Amino acid sequence: MLDISELKTVETDVVVVGAGGAGLRAAIESSAQGMKTVVLSKSLLGKAHTVMAEGGLAASLGNTDKRDNWKVHFRDTMRGGKFLNLWRMAELHAKQAPARVRELEEWGAVFDRTKEGLISQRNFGGHRYPRLAHVGDRTGLELIRTLQDHGVHQGIDFLMECTALSLLKDGERVAGVLAYYRETGRFVLLKARAVVLATGGGGKAWRVTSNSWEYTGDGVYLAYEAGAELMDLEFTQFHPTGMVWPLSVRGILVTEGVRGDGGILLNKEGKRFMFDYVPPRFAAETADTVDEATRWLNGDKNARRPPELLTRDVVARSIRAEVKAGRGSPHGGAFLDIASRRPADFIKRRLPGMYHQFMELAEVDITTEPMEVGPTLHYFMGGIRVDADTQMTRVPGLFACGECGAGMHGANRLGGNSLSDLIVFGRLAGKCAAEYARSLSSTPQADAERVKLAVRGATEILNRESGENPYLLHEKLQDVMEEGVGIVREEEDLKKGVLGIEELKERAKNMKAHGTSQYNPGWHEALSMRSMLVTAEAVARAALIRQESRGAHTRADYEGERDEWVKYNIVSRKGADGNMEVEKVLRPAPVKYLEEIANSKIEDLEAGKIGADAPND
Ligand code: FUM
Repeated sequence: MLDISELKTVETDVVVVGAGGAGLRAAIESSAQGMKTVVLSKSLLGKAHTVMAEGGLAASLGNTDKRDNWKVHFRDTMRGGKFLNLWRMAELHAKQAPARVRELEEWGAVFDRTKEGLISQRNFGGHRYPRLAHVGDRTGLELIRTLQDHGVHQGIDFLMECTALSLLKDGERVAGVLAYYRETGRFVLLKARAVVLATGGGGKAWRVTSNSWEYTGDGVYLAYEAGAELMDLEFTQFHPTGMVWPLSVRGILVTEGVRGDGGILLNKEGKRFMFDYVPPRFAAETADTVDEATRWLNGDKNARRPPELLTRDVVARSIRAEVKAGRGSPHGGAFLDIASRRPADFIKRRLPGMYHQFMELAEVDITTEPMEVGPTLHYFMGGIRVDADTQMTRVPGLFACGECGAGMHGANRLGGNSLSDLIVFGRLAGKCAAEYARSLSSTPQADAERVKLAVRGATEILNRESGENPYLLHEKLQDVMEEGVGIVREEEDLKKGVLGIEELKERAKNMKAHGTSQYNPGWHEALSMRSMLVTAEAVARAALIRQESRGAHTRADYEGERDEWVKYNIVSRKGADGNMEVEKVLRPAPVKYLEEIANSKIEDLEAGKIGADAPND
């Protein structure tokens, strides 16, 4: 019989689960507020998916185009998200992103500069002006490096290669985290007053993804099991440009910065096909001639933007359509050509990571040849439901931020808005978690039965005589998600997807990992499968229910957006048997000034006719 007092125990004020941009920023804030803070990192520090946001960080600094300001950024974000974003989150993000970028610079981030010495900003899809502060094509990496350096010197404790298994509860409140060290297999009980989840998304449920092995929906699973609500999981972003060849690197990201810096998409006939896919309502904003697009990229403010910089959902669907029509590249993608548009020294200076990535992994010199690219599962817009002003879930003391949180991006995220999301909402979550922790008169007491159940649930995978192979179940799940819950969805496929996941859930109850708990990859895989299955089920069920096409959620059987679907899909665990339920919830009405800004004509906004009375902080 397990005695939980024998488990290694760490007592702290705030535990942050996840050491990507959001987790690090949350920990820095919590620690700055005087709270003892521990960060759990599933892998080694510096290995977060944050590094896959390569091309930049969106903030209306107005360095490259003075007309930019928070209102235009907010308007772009709401339009990109198809008006399903939480208005307040999009407002906070647009207002606070510039200050967070300047703060990063004060902490040592070395951004690329304009000729005048200001932080340089590049173009990205859906952003009206060049808005992405960048460090070549390694912006996420620089963000992580800066936050890590800053955090380590603040005395934050980092537990590395340590995976969260379950949230501890004291009645309704959160009371800490049960985790295990991947190397030794030893459990550790982290008793805390508040917990911040910053675990990223769950891309590993798909085969073709830019996500690395850590992204198995852990935060979504932990929150769901602890009684929190999930929101809008059906909105999964397929980044249009991942590598398609060689197969071993399929899915690895090719930054949107290539298109932002002038790259164009071609089919196998050499046709620049994106002109054929401009949605009618964007036609006025999008170039209809190659010359126009080139002028725009060269900084002519009066020219219109190129169609390669339409939002990611549109570009990903267009590449898929070309491939389906038999006009794809040899390995099932499209050609991304920057070589014929920009000189080699420009490409090597602006896109050094892409140059080396293609040279080393595919033996392609992008300064002379086009790249082969295709859609790759990149990002979850949906996630854990939080309060916009505090980032707290409905479980008292449990906070979520970054990709595992929901609400900021609505139905589709604009490129570059993830890095700014991480630092704006990471900070907010850390601040509010610290305030919450301080407000408690005593440390919550973990429910011992819940801890024992969680330990037993993990160890029985090792202890049973025989059972299902977790690696094979993972492969099967990836088949189910690729086939049933891909870029374009349909009722019949989605139903098959849900059934497939249910069947895998049953089989997963009997998973077996051979060997001991000491560094045992099979056991890690089995434990991750539990998170992936819950996350995948939430995505598939929410996608089945949403009978419209909006942003990143495309239904072949329900074209177009529907007014009755300006609603959130809320997923929660219901009833004694713990079944997953999805409920539609009406989007609350926005405050007047935000609605006016989001719906405004850009000329009116720029002329100050709209939003003049909106508060600026
Ligand atoms: O394409 C990119 O560099 C990715 C950026 C992002 O996802 O924000």
